[in-house]
This record gives sequence, C-alpha cells and structure tokens, in this order.
Amino acid sequence: EFGQYEIQTWYSSPYPPEYSRLPKLYLCEFCLKYLKSQDILQRHSNKCGWFHPPANEIYRKENISVFEVDGNISKIFCQNLCLLAKLFLDHKTLYYDVEPFLFYVLTQNDEKGCHLVGYFSKEKLCQQKYNVSCIMIMPQYQRQGFGGFLIDFSYLLSRLEGRAGSPEKPLSDLGRLSYLAYWKSVILEYLHNHPDKSVSIRGMSRATGMCPHDIATTLQQLNMIDFQNGRHQLIEEHMDRLRMKPRLHEVDPDCLSWTPGS
Ligand code: COA
Ligand code: NA
Repeated sequence: EFGQYEIQTWYSSPYPPEYSRLPKLYLCEFCLKYLKSQDILQRHSNKCGWFHPPANEIYRKENISVFEVDGNISKIFCQNLCLLAKLFLDHKTLYYDVEPFLFYVLTQNDEKGCHLVGYFSKEKLCQQKYNVSCIMIMPQYQRQGFGGFLIDFSYLLSRLEGRAGSPEKPLSDLGRLSYLAYWKSVILEYLHNHPDKSVSIRGMSRATGMCPHDIATTLQQLNMIDFQNGRHQLIEEHMDRLRMKPRLHEVDPDCLSWTPGS
C-alpha cells in the first residue's frame, strides 16, 4: 500500500525477512518507511511530518517537481527508495551503498504533498560517463510520459555538465524501449530543425547530450545511415505524430535551478 494506491509488485526485493514474509507491505509515501500494518502506518503518518523528499527542489513547473537527494546525506530515504524500486526491476541493483549516488526524485504535487512519481539515480563521480544508473516510474504513473521526462532531464543535466552521457547497462526491456523511443524522437526532431545543414554525429552529441555511440546506433535503427531518401519521410511522419499526440510532460530548462557539482 502506497498513498492512495494498492500496487501489485513485479519482482522480489530484499526487505528484511519479517517484512518480506507479509502478504502486504505498507509504505509511507513521503519518507518511504516500510511498515507491517495499516494501524502502524496510520500512527506513523500522524507524526512523520514529511511531505516531500529530503532535499532541495531543483526543478518546478506547474505541479511537477524534481528534488536532488544526496545518498550520503539522506541515506535511509535513498535505501528505502532503492528497495521500493527493486520491486519493479528484474536485475540486481544497489540497495545499501547509496552514498556515491545522487537521486533525482520526480513528484506530482497537490495540497497533501509531493507524491512520488519516479526517480533516477546517478553516480556522483562516474568513470564511464553514465548519466543514469537506475530509473523507475511507479506503476500507477507509467505510460504517461514521465519516464521520457526523466530521461530528458538526465540529458539536460549532462548538457549543463558539458559531457555526453549514456544509461548504465544492462537496460531492462522497458528501459530499452523507453530509451529507444526517446533517442529516436530526439534525433528526428534534431534533423527536422536542421533541414539545410549537413549534420554530424559530433554536433548532434553536443546539442543533445547523447553520446555518439547511442546516436549512431539509433541512426542505424532508423535506417538512416545509407537510406537517404526515406529520411525526409520518417522525419515528417514523426512530426505529424507529435502534432497529433503532443507530449504530456516536457522538461522546461527555464524551470531548473541547478549548477553542475553544486
Ligand atoms: N510497452 C511498450 N512500450 C513502452 C512501454 C511498455 N510497457 N513502456 C514504455 N514504452 C515506450 C513507448 O514507446 C513509450 O511511448 P508511448 O507511451 O508514447 O508509446 C515510451 O517508451 C516512453 O514511455 P513513458 O510513458 O515516458 O515511460 P514510463 O513513464 O512508463 O517509464 C520506465 C518507463 C522504463 C521508467 C518504466 O517502465 C519503469 O519504471 N519500469 C520498471 C523499472 C525499469 O525497468 N527501469 C529501467 C531500468 S534500465
Ligand atoms: Na509515464
């Protein structure tokens, strides 16, 4: 049970045995503490006092916010977030060693508080240029464009850092689908906006924050490396689809207050 939702979990997660034994877990939707019963949750909620993630709000537009939570400062919250995420992730991920990571937590806000939509984690000092370690959208918010929003947000941060990024592998099936959809749309929109110029992968990388390898792979997927003639049609079809079905959630760079390494 999570806020107003009862959620069917997908995979197992290493909650302590006396909790994972239970048919149902009760989570505080704000501090993510896990509890054994409705009664205990009720008592907790009366004194919890949290209504948003324990961190600076670095982005806000309308009722959507992003908070940057430091794994070193808010260790328990981040561990609880990882345990929760594992319920929807098939592969191994970190749960306890959260200190080297920042967690970008997306919320939808109303008079009751900032409700967890999803998050991505990112290594503070990453050798391999990964700009996302793990990404998850809560099931009740999936397929509404929030995953794409967070992916776009991760590339906005990479552009501000001045270095191209890529998600950590392996990607889950849903992760791969979401990234491919995002990469395709970014590339098609870039080509739409640069109709007359000769484009380079390096230029696209600088403009998008995507690493050259992911751009090349996506161009290949779109059959665009050799197939010059179909290019215009693909771009137009994509732009038509976008006009028919505009994105529900788009990152507005003007609503970000953040500087790299701050
Ligand atoms: N089936 C088919 N395509 C899907 C899909 C699904 N279940 N989920 C996402 N996609 C593709 C679609 O092309 C979609 O665009 P559309 O809805 O316009 O067709 C696009 O990805 C973006 O979807 P979006 O709504 O922005 O993604 P989301 O909010 O549902 O979040 C994940 C995507 C991956 C974050 C989410 O599925 C999730 O949290 N999964 C569990 C955890 C996980 O696997 N994380 C990735 C680890 S690498
Ligand atoms: Na979504």
